[in-house]
Amino acid sequence: MSLPEANPEFEALLNYLKHNRGCDLTGYKRSTLMRRFGHRMQNLSIDSYQKYLHYLQRHSQEYLVLLNDVLINFTSFFRDRDAWDYLATDIIPKIIASKQPNEPIRVWSAGCAAGQEIYSLLILLAETLGIESCLQRVQCYATDADEAALKQARQATYSDLEVSSVPRDLLQKYFEQTDQGYVIRPILRQNIIFGRHDLTQDAPISKIDLLMCRNVLIYFNPEAQASILVRFHFALKKTGFLFLGKSETLVNRRQIFTPVHMKHQIYTKGLKLDLEDHLAINPKSSKGQLAESLTSQTQFWQTAFETNTVAQFAVDISGCLVGANEQANILFGLTLDDWNYPFHQLEPGKLIAAHTSVKTFYCHRRPAILKDIERKTSQGTQYFDVAIAPVLNAKKQLLGSILTFVNKTDCKRLKDKLEYTNAELKRVSEALQTTQTELESARQEIHILAEDTHKRNQSSEGAR
Ligand SMILES: C[S@@+](CC[C@H](N)C(=O)[O-])C[C@H]1O[C@@H](n2cnc3c(N)ncnc32)[C@H](O)[C@@H]1O
Repeated sequence: MSLPEANPEFEALLNYLKHNRGCDLTGYKRSTLMRRFGHRMQNLSIDSYQKYLHYLQRHSQEYLVLLNDVLINFTSFFRDRDAWDYLATDIIPKIIASKQPNEPIRVWSAGCAAGQEIYSLLILLAETLGIESCLQRVQCYATDADEAALKQARQATYSDLEVSSVPRDLLQKYFEQTDQGYVIRPILRQNIIFGRHDLTQDAPISKIDLLMCRNVLIYFNPEAQASILVRFHFALKKTGFLFLGKSETLVNRRQIFTPVHMKHQIYTKGLKLDLEDHLAINPKSSKGQLAESLTSQTQFWQTAFETNTVAQFAVDISGCLVGANEQANILFGLTLDDWNYPFHQLEPGKLIAAHTSVKTFYCHRRPAILKDIERKTSQGTQYFDVAIAPVLNAKKQLLGSILTFVNKTDCKRLKDKLEYTNAELKRVSEALQTTQTELESARQEIHILAEDTHKRNQSSEGAR
């Protein structure tokens, strides 16, 4: 996917920041960036990107001021209140129910701005678990690319206006009123680890139960969004939840997240990541070309697999369906919901159950062919030959298997017909043989009779 290079002078500016200031803004939407840069340039009375580039080169700290303008920090406590209510009544209880009583709960606010988001969540968790248990069990991470915002978040001090969205009883319980404003009680703050983290470049935090990244993705172009979502897939536990902002939509080419609640933008993990997803988060500098060529190779094989005229399934080492091509989907009526499902519980898996231990065939390292697998349908019986081929990686580790279902119904019908015709032919030729033998013996009898008659005639003539 190539980026729309709106303006070469502007792209030169972005490249300068990336290579000379370690500040990579190339993944952000150009329209937002240009507005924010324009705002900063207006303040400095600079009227072209080229002149602003010279200004940046001469003023080494200017990029920090610019960043402050570019990274929009707007936030509030319990922003989009109804989504937070849903989180409190549906999602938090689910997370707690999925755990042992003392098991840790790990949450991450990515793009936390001045901290209101992570404190809102911590308050909800303290309300549900009780403060003591919350302090024991909950591990909070709050990250942002903007150091100034993180500083504010660590201070946890908010104005009257900023706390106006916090319900009164919670304000009294979790805040201290000071001359500087409302401060989150220190005991709660000790549970949070704040840190600088760039979503487009840094490795994600792992084993997360609830990942909030609200009103951040909207600033990125689709390619950067997709790569951030892949990182989030890594970050979340299998049972974890992703909580996005109200106006955000998922852009990934495959459903690696599935919605739990569309309106409130809450998702769980969907499809497993594939090679292309992994490539999306590889740094694209010097490896860019390699990644591109690998991507096109991957696309080639993927298309070949998907459009193959015979039905094929990919089953991973744990026995779950991780891929099915178009023919397979049509033949067995599979949908995306069946992916990641144990293969032996799906119809094609059940069909071969009688012939092999389906629960273990995907662990075999040797290929196998199963003949004449029967499938009863309302239109009659179908027959398949199933080839099971192990898939090994370069280190000869088994990744799973590819199962190819070749429909032999027509062949089987022809074969049966041929067998029947051959049997008929044999029966008729045997009957013919019998008739010929009978004919021959009849002919011989006639011959003998004729000879006898001839002899008898001769002897009676001699007697006369
Ligand atoms: C509009 S605020 C959203 C704050 C909060 N999540 C909310 O919804 O109220 C966007 C935040 O994303 C942060 N941000 C922007 N780019 C980022 C990046 N590449 N990595 C991490 N945070 C980033 C900004 O610094 C800003 O604090």
